[in-house]
Amino acid sequence: MQLFLDTTDTAVLKDLAQTGLVDGVTTNPTLIAKSGRPMLEVIAEICALVEGPVSAEVVAPDLESMIAEGRKLAAIADNVVVKAPLTREGLMLTRALAIEGIMVNVTLCFSAAQALMAAKAGAAFISPFIGRLDDHGADGMELIHDIRTIYDNYDFSTAILAASVRNAAHVRAAALAGADCATIPPSVFLELYKHPLTDRGLEQFNADWAKTGQSIL
Ligand code: E4P
Repeated sequence: MQLFLDTTDTAVLKDLAQTGLVDGVTTNPTLIAKSGRPMLEVIAEICALVEGPVSAEVVAPDLESMIAEGRKLAAIADNVVVKAPLTREGLMLTRALAIEGIMVNVTLCFSAAQALMAAKAGAAFISPFIGRLDDHGADGMELIHDIRTIYDNYDFSTAILAASVRNAAHVRAAALAGADCATIPPSVFLELYKHPLTDRGLEQFNADWAKTGQSIL
């Protein structure tokens, strides 16, 4: 399973990328606004920090401008993935860019039927928003299961990118459901390897080792 960071904080990204476990990055207009920086500059900086896919979202209201934005974003670096909303125009954008060989991540997916349409349009990634569905009283993980089944039934190669992930339990469930990737906030990245029993166990091992007076090196 690939792990992407959902962030525009380049300092945090630089730090976590050192682990070698960050496979890509996703951004959205809210995260760009939070960074307080020009979008094109932030995306270029992120692309230089990670080799994997970096999603950058179009914001124009009409198809023609969306296509122009998508081409401009894709020209920033080879690893840019254009992010398109799951609307009629977004699907048409996906199809147009896919024909040009530009990868598209279709975002704001809340139903299996939407995911089917995105795959048919040629999306490289589909982003079902688990957390927001849960907040809405639905079952976000059920959607991941449904999309997995549909994509497998028809051999769609669109990667399922679990998004709006709120905690480590979401990552576990998405992995069990067969999501190809998950995009997570930096706080959840840390949660994935931290465990109080690991810390307690290590403390005990270190204390016992100190008693031996030995050194391996
Ligand atoms: C994914 O691409 C989105 O940027 C992100 O996962 C949205 O998460 P949120 O629902 O926590 O805003």
